[in-house]
Order: sequence, then structure tokens, then C-alpha cells
Amino acid sequence: MERPLTQHIRPDRSPLSISEYEKTGGYQAARKALKTMDPKSVTDTVINATLRGRGGAGFSTGRKWSFIPKDAPPQRYLVVNADEMEPGTFKDRLLLEGNPHQLIEGMIIAAFAIQADTAYIFLRRAYRLAAARLEKALAEARAAGYLGKNIFGSGRSLEIHVHMSAGRYICGEETALINALEGRRANPRSKPPFPQISGLFGKPTIVNNVETLCNVPHIIGKGVDWFKSLALTEDGGTKLYGASGKVKKPGLWELPLGTSAREILEEHAGGMRDGLKFKGLLPGGASTDFLVEKHLDLPMDFNALGAAGSRLGTGTMIVMDDRTCPVGFVHNLIRFFAQESCGWCTPCREGLPWVEKTLAAIEAGKGKDGDVEILEMHAKALGMGNTYCALAPGAMEPLASALLYFRDDFTRHIKEQGCPWR
Ligand SMILES: Cc1cc2nc3c(=O)[nH]c(=O)nc-3n(C[C@H](O)[C@H](O)[C@H](O)COP(=O)(O)O)c2cc1C
Ligand code: SF4
Repeated sequence: MERPLTQHIRPDRSPLSISEYEKTGGYQAARKALKTMDPKSVTDTVINATLRGRGGAGFSTGRKWSFIPKDAPPQRYLVVNADEMEPGTFKDRLLLEGNPHQLIEGMIIAAFAIQADTAYIFLRRAYRLAAARLEKALAEARAAGYLGKNIFGSGRSLEIHVHMSAGRYICGEETALINALEGRRANPRSKPPFPQISGLFGKPTIVNNVETLCNVPHIIGKGVDWFKSLALTEDGGTKLYGASGKVKKPGLWELPLGTSAREILEEHAGGMRDGLKFKGLLPGGASTDFLVEKHLDLPMDFNALGAAGSRLGTGTMIVMDDRTCPVGFVHNLIRFFAQESCGWCTPCREGLPWVEKTLAAIEAGKGKDGDVEILEMHAKALGMGNTYCALAPGAMEPLASALLYFRDDFTRHIKEQGCPWR
């Protein structure tokens, strides 16, 4: 099984120097793109490879690039979303720390495709080790002439800057991220206009996730058919899947896109810890809907999980066991989302604390008849389309699906005036 993203990451994660990276074939794809291809053929190759964004929404990467209007002004920006504050998600960190040159090469190719000469890596504030390794790798790439002016003698230029995030979850939402990069408060922007039309400093901007861009050198280097053949499903490539919770071996694995949840849970994560049973899992970070036993054989891909009422999200699952109280579990998540609301829209600003208080009361044995219905009402009112960004709708996904699959747990708390797990 091929693992292009992680095959050169050492077990201790110490990063490859530029010469070590070049020995693995590094920077050959960037050279090929800039010397022998044009921006449109790079974009078309990424479209045909069916690469979908690994940051959560799963949009076609090449199609997103192609949305920059052909007659757009020459100043365009590429921004790497390395904020990674989704609870339960720790995949981009491995790529940033373990092989920063792979990301830089992906950025050189992506910047060429969209014709940007300036790029930013918007980095999670806590990722100091990644910041140091990125800066070192950037200095090596500059010294080798892979950044700066006239890269590979192609006439193209690129500068990459590392920007430490303000340290809020909302900074990961792409338009809030753009505001933060401009030095403004990290509120999301109303869309349209989309960043591809008017993004950073009002110029066309592409925001892509770290894992997304790390795939790009491999697609350009080895081709569309090879990339598609990596996956078990209709969208191409591998995926960094993770598992946290009370499994025997929590961790992160690069596997074919479309690997089943059961294989990840039982083979790679070693199954549940002794004495515990599986109850449910959030497949792609805290803002996705629960999957339960009947879903475990589904491929963990964009379409299958969408059809099952959930989302692939970041592909890093949080596993819940049968001794963890679902009400307490969801309450913990909602408390995080309520704290992280930027406060711009009323349903999110007022609704999330209300949901949090209701869950706290139920968990503390002070729930009332009608509380479950109130929670359901909020799950709809804070859903997609009612807010400026996806923070509140994302927060409602674990809640709405917990009410669907673990409803008895909520009603038992109310009837028994206490938490049965305490
Ligand atoms: C509240 C919130 C937080 C987000 N945090 C991240 C993040 O940390 N990293 C990320 O890549 N995308 C994050 N996203 C998704 C981005 O808005 C955007 O869709 C993504 O960076 C696009 O990259 P992709 O097309 O390569 O997936 C977040 C979205 C929301 C609503
Ligand atoms: S949904 Fe919440 S986080 Fe998103 S814009 Fe509205 S208030 Fe801000």
C-alpha cells in the first residue's frame, strides 16, 4: 500500500533537510510544473485527479483554483490553512513537523497554478515546533533558489510567509482567517463575494488545507491515474485518518481514501480498550454527526458519509465508549463551540450558550420535560443557512445526531433526575 504523504516521515518526526527531501525526488514535481506545464494544465491535472479538500468541506481543489476569473488582476494570494483547532484533529501537525518541504513544494505548484507570487501559512498558535521547522525549510528553499525570483529559471517568483494565528478556533474559517491575516478581528465575512473573487486585501485568494496541498506534488509527479488508483472510492488519493478516545492505540494512519470505519477502529486503532464497548464515533472531528454500529462498514469518504447523514470532515474520528455519558460528551463539545463563537450572528451568539446551559442542567439532574424538544429546536435554528459561517451548524451536528441515536440517554437523565453514569 502506497503512502505518498507520510512515507518519508521518520518515526521520531525529525524533518527532512532539503537535500534529504531532494533524494526522495523532492522538488522534481515543482520543476516539472513550472518548466514544462502552464497554469491551466496544472489546474486541470488536479481537477482530473479528483483531489477534494482535506480541510473539512471536501470541495474539488482544482475547481476551486479555477474559480479565479481569467481576467483577474495579477495580484493573487495563496493561503495555507494550518490553524487545525478542530477538537480531535491532529493530522496537519504531522505533515508540518515531519516533512515541511512537501508542503512548500505543494505551495510552489499551487501558487503557479493560480499565478500568485505571495503566499502565507496561517499556523495554529500552539504549533511552535512546526513554525521553527517551517522557517528552517523555507530558508533552505530560498537558498536553493526554489523561492524568491525566477524559480527554476521559469520567470515565476514566490515568497512564503509564516503567520502565527491569534489562537481562536474561528480563525480556521477561511474568511475569518483572511480578516485575521489583514490584522482585523477574526469575524467571518459574508459570502458572496467568495475569496476566489475578493479575498485577502480584496484580491483573489485561494485558501487550502495543509493535507490538501501536500497531495499536489505527488499528483503532478506521478499523474492522475496513479492518484486515482490510491483510493478505494470515486475520489482520488490517500487520507490521513486518526482515532482518539478509549481505543487501544489512538493515532494517525495514512490509508486509501474510502477505508472503512471498522478497519480504522479495529485494525489500526486496535479496537476498544478492554472492558469497554463501542457506542458511537464522530468521523471527522467534533463538528460532524455521530456514526453508530450500523455505519461501521461504510467507506470513510465524502459521498458515503454524506449519504449516511454525516461528513468525512477532517477524517480524524473521536470514538465514544459505552461508559461515557453521551449528554456529558456533547455538553463538553458544545461548551467549546459556545466559547469560540465570534458573536456576529444572533442564533450562534445567543443559541450556543443556551444549548450549553440546557445540556449542563440535564447532566446535573435538573433537566425538565420539554428540554429535549428545546434542544431539537436549537439544532434546527442554528443549522446551515441560518448563520454567516459553519461554526454553529457544525456545533449542532454532534447534538442533532446524539438526539437521534442516543435519545433514551437524554430522557433517562430527565426522568431519573441525574446522570446514570455517575
Ligand atoms: C469554524 C471553522 C473552523 C475551521 N478550521 C479549519 C482549520 O483549522 N483548517 C482547515 O484547513 N480548514 C478549516 N476550516 C475549513 C475552512 O474554512 C476551509 O474550508 C478550508 O481551509 C479549505 O481548504 P480545502 O479546500 O483544502 O479543504 C474551518 C471551518 C470552520 C467553519
Ligand atoms: S456562526 Fe457563530 S462563529 Fe460563525 S459568524 Fe456566526 S456568530 Fe460567528
